[in-house]
Amino acid sequence: MIAFEKGYAVCIDGKSRGVFETLPQKYSDLPVIDFGDRLIIPGLVDLHIHAPQYAFRGTGMDLELMDWLNQQAFPEEAKYADLTYAKKAYSIFAEQMKKSATTRVCMFGTQHRPATELLMELMEETGLVSFVGKVNMDREAPDNLREESAEASVQATIAWIESVSQKFQRTKPILTPRFIPSCTDELMQKLREIQMTYELPVQSHLSENQGEIAFVRELRPRNKFYGDAYEEHDLFGRNKENHKEVKTIMAHCVWSEEEEVELMRQNGVFVAHCPASNMNLSSGIAPIRSYLDKGLRVGLGSDVAGGHCESIFRAITDTVQVSKMYWRLVDSSASPITFPEAFYLATKGGGAFFGKVGSFEEGYDFDAIVLEDAVLPYPQELSVLQRLERAVYLSLDLNGIYAKFVEGRQLF
Ligand code: GUN
Ligand code: FE
Repeated sequence: MIAFEKGYAVCIDGKSRGVFETLPQKYSDLPVIDFGDRLIIPGLVDLHIHAPQYAFRGTGMDLELMDWLNQQAFPEEAKYADLTYAKKAYSIFAEQMKKSATTRVCMFGTQHRPATELLMELMEETGLVSFVGKVNMDREAPDNLREESAEASVQATIAWIESVSQKFQRTKPILTPRFIPSCTDELMQKLREIQMTYELPVQSHLSENQGEIAFVRELRPRNKFYGDAYEEHDLFGRNKENHKEVKTIMAHCVWSEEEEVELMRQNGVFVAHCPASNMNLSSGIAPIRSYLDKGLRVGLGSDVAGGHCESIFRAITDTVQVSKMYWRLVDSSASPITFPEAFYLATKGGGAFFGKVGSFEEGYDFDAIVLEDAVLPYPQELSVLQRLERAVYLSLDLNGIYAKFVEGRQLF
């Protein structure tokens, strides 16, 4: 990690020109904002969050995945059929996302098209850059949440894509089959066609919980492993027919077997590591050290409300902490993830899904967070890097961000 005690982060037309200890002469005519002694860091990326679950975050945490979905997530998500409720809940969510240290986010909505479009409108107003998914689910859910048929799900998805694709500057649709248990083979096949037509990115869940994996094995006995079910429908990083990339995020990957990991590597699938969720739902610990050693693309996700908090600072420290437990208790050859590595995952790691994002290096989109760590006073001298580590560990982002920039625009 590189840090300057006093320096200049230069931005022109939304792009970073680099960070300098003394301002290069050629930039001397640019307007300057002086943030004094505050910390300036790249914006954080949340690769996986469920907007409709934000309302019940921090409650009902004593269940495993499938029971938690049935008892907590699904009943709440069913409420988003009511646009009045959706507006209340999504307004709170969008406001919190704006205040947070997150500048880029990939999120799930619900199956409901009107509520998902409303969510997109609200996210656009925040100034963040987001991918938002109307969820597809046509089986294994309560009647009030399951879409009527694969065809109904497909028609609603196409209508939604047509409606939102050109509507927003910063808010884009992402194809969102919830996970294999929620989607019939027919639906998955049709989503493949939609993906090819509109060339949308994809987000879903993968190998999160052992009960879930056993269920997928029952539902799809022909597939060699869980990820193979997505791969069969070309929704796993690339299309086998036209060889095009299918930009894909798979959340969790706690229990991915060797072949699955190798396919993710080959196809360039992004792993959204969600350690808080994996602890809360007793899912396990994803072997992130091994994923990094193998060259997988990895970013962090809050996975609210499996995760209880939208703070990506928390996701950073959780990543370090669970990796230490994994090393100590599971695999002594898997060295713990260090703080700089976890910070990288939260910025450039996940940022790569959006392009050149997550750094102040020249040519990257200028996303920045300004932190006032003096709100948590300290008596001693600290280096800039010590101040950053401390700010992250003390979840300073939950105390409020001093200023926020996305693509060079100051949001506040
Ligand atoms: N798998 C399918 N749906 C969900 C969800 O909403 N949260 C989590 N953590 N896993 C899922
Ligand atoms: Fe999730």
